[in-house]
Amino acid sequence: MKGNQIAKYVSSVSKYNQEALEISKRVHAERQLGNRTSINLERSVEEKFPRNYRPGFGVAMEYQKMGNQPISPKTQRLADSLNLGLEHAGITLGTIVSGLDLKKPLDDLVINCLKHIFLERKVIFFRNQAINQDQLVRFATYFGDLDAFPFGKGNEKNPFVLEIVHGENSPGSENGWHTDVTWMENPSLGSVAQCIELPPYGGDTLFSDSHACYLGMPERLRNEVRDVWGTNDYRLFLKNSRSGGLSEELTNDIKSKFKFGVDHPILRTHPETKKTSLYLNGSFLRSGSLYNKRTNKPLGEGKSRVIIKDLLRQHDQPEYSYRFRWEKGSIAFWDNRAVQHFAASDYYPHQRVLRRVTISGDKPYFDPDSDRAYIS
Ligand SMILES: [Fe+2]
Repeated sequence: MKGNQIAKYVSSVSKYNQEALEISKRVHAERQLGNRTSINLERSVEEKFPRNYRPGFGVAMEYQKMGNQPISPKTQRLADSLNLGLEHAGITLGTIVSGLDLKKPLDDLVINCLKHIFLERKVIFFRNQAINQDQLVRFATYFGDLDAFPFGKGNEKNPFVLEIVHGENSPGSENGWHTDVTWMENPSLGSVAQCIELPPYGGDTLFSDSHACYLGMPERLRNEVRDVWGTNDYRLFLKNSRSGGLSEELTNDIKSKFKFGVDHPILRTHPETKKTSLYLNGSFLRSGSLYNKRTNKPLGEGKSRVIIKDLLRQHDQPEYSYRFRWEKGSIAFWDNRAVQHFAASDYYPHQRVLRRVTISGDKPYFDPDSDRAYIS
């Protein structure tokens, strides 16, 4: 609009809008002046984000660690040389990889490239992969040995494939932020899930970046859990919805085979990237079990409960997450050491079926020096 047009327009609007337009000119002029001062130009990334709400800062710092790029040029070149398409979903996590048919065996160059993309992007996806159980197992095996799941319905054809079925008689129950199987002494490093049956609406899985989450945690909380460990167990799976619990004989047998109660750090160093993540699973972590590993002193029942409640809210911030919409034949492969996930239970009474295979991992540890350079 030209000057005389603006004047004509303003005269025709309400008194409130006349004043709002006038004030906006003055506000803009003062801000322009402020932006020209050297103090503003020299502000650090940290100073640009409000101190009382830090998810944006956490994501920015994680992206900075990634070189302010979604993927390293070296991995991008490798993908290009193999004609793999990479469609990045979130700024710091999630990439849809195209150009592969997982019905066919993959060669070593492709597997090596996928490992790099997986480590850098934390969760990778494939579309339209109508693969059978054997092919799903073969794909997962490229990345390590597999872990069988003792508490699911046995799969006679393929003991490593867990079928996750939800429908009219079993609403979706994985709708809390979690990282898989922390009841294990060596929790699985990653999980590969394939969508077999999709509800007409909903059923998405959300992934939340645990490194960004750690970096964005309130400083008070980050310091509070620096040397803190907690005890995880599988009591959840000893319950039975009809009778209230498994038999004493079976329970004792399970406990004699799999250690009931394993300690893991709340902050975990990724064994390959060396980045720190916030690492916990609220279903397995005993609520009063937190203790200081350095002094070997318990935090106390009450304090432990309060801190865990606070920690379980951290992954909730939308900034950290990417929401994946499944299609029949979609595959997601996530790094349990770098992300948490959440299966939205929003499709009842429809049915949703996934197949999952988990890859063996190692014992979690925390090295406070590995991330020191990045923390204020
Ligand atoms: Fe899970």
